Amino acid sequence: MHGEDGSYRGARARFYDEQLRETDRPDVAYYRDLATSVDGPVLETACGTGRIYLQLLAAGVDADGFDLSADALAVLRENAAERGLDPAVWTADLTDFAVDREYALATCPFNAIQHLETVDDQLAALESVHDALAPGGRFVFDTFVPGFDVICETYGEWQERTVAYRGVDHELRTRTRVVDEVEQRFAVETELSDPDGEPVFAETDRLSMLPKQQVEVLARKSPFTEWSVTGDFTDEPIEDGHSIQVWELRREA
Ligand SMILES: C[S@@+](CC[C@H](N)C(=O)[O-])C[C@H]1O[C@@H](n2cnc3c(N)ncnc32)[C@H](O)[C@@H]1O
Repeated sequence: MHGEDGSYRGARARFYDEQLRETDRPDVAYYRDLATSVDGPVLETACGTGRIYLQLLAAGVDADGFDLSADALAVLRENAAERGLDPAVWTADLTDFAVDREYALATCPFNAIQHLETVDDQLAALESVHDALAPGGRFVFDTFVPGFDVICETYGEWQERTVAYRGVDHELRTRTRVVDEVEQRFAVETELSDPDGEPVFAETDRLSMLPKQQVEVLARKSPFTEWSVTGDFTDEPIEDGHSIQVWELRREA
């Protein structure tokens, strides 16, 4: 279980939103097309600042969302107001939430499920999502393929670059470190400084590696009855060389 002490607070939430809004990740179109193809309401879990969620609303999807971070949701609501959209979002924890609708589709985009650090939390999340779905409903989420080359080559080193934030150049430092080899946990440190060198925010996220076999064991232990995994938002079976696992778990019809 998690408290309101999670990450994505204040300026970090705004920075995350601004940086990712500019990028052209394939997940946005993938989740939007999926959501527009189902017959029934959609729930985006860990919807953050609404990078994908607001696209669903704009496409006319009957979509609800929640996130642990109230600050991320505040950014989502501001963006929605600017676009004339009417969001239905609330703060909740993926490991322990309940809803009063039956969703045809639940999603958890962009590694958000990796924020759950224990098998108990991961299974609790699958149970909560399962219970939020209508019979035959689907849970679709993505999580990266832990790559030995990436871990060996880039983990442990600070990466520094200049980025525009609110129209002004800032210095961004990030470092990913393995913090528990046995449990396969890692930490991502993110620090942003303004042009005078003053810190804007410094946050550390702790996440779990979720290799395919672990997700499969979780699926087998969960109440879901069928599952499949594809690679890199291609809808092709996952294979060596893919860097993103896209899982679909189905509730019995
Ligand atoms: C990488 S961001 C992804 C946000 C959004 N899904 C997207 O694709 O832009 C991870 C999100 O997971 C949220 N999160 C982390 N742990 C959570 C939990 N236990 N329950 C709900 N949300 C959680 C964070 O607050 C953050 O907004």
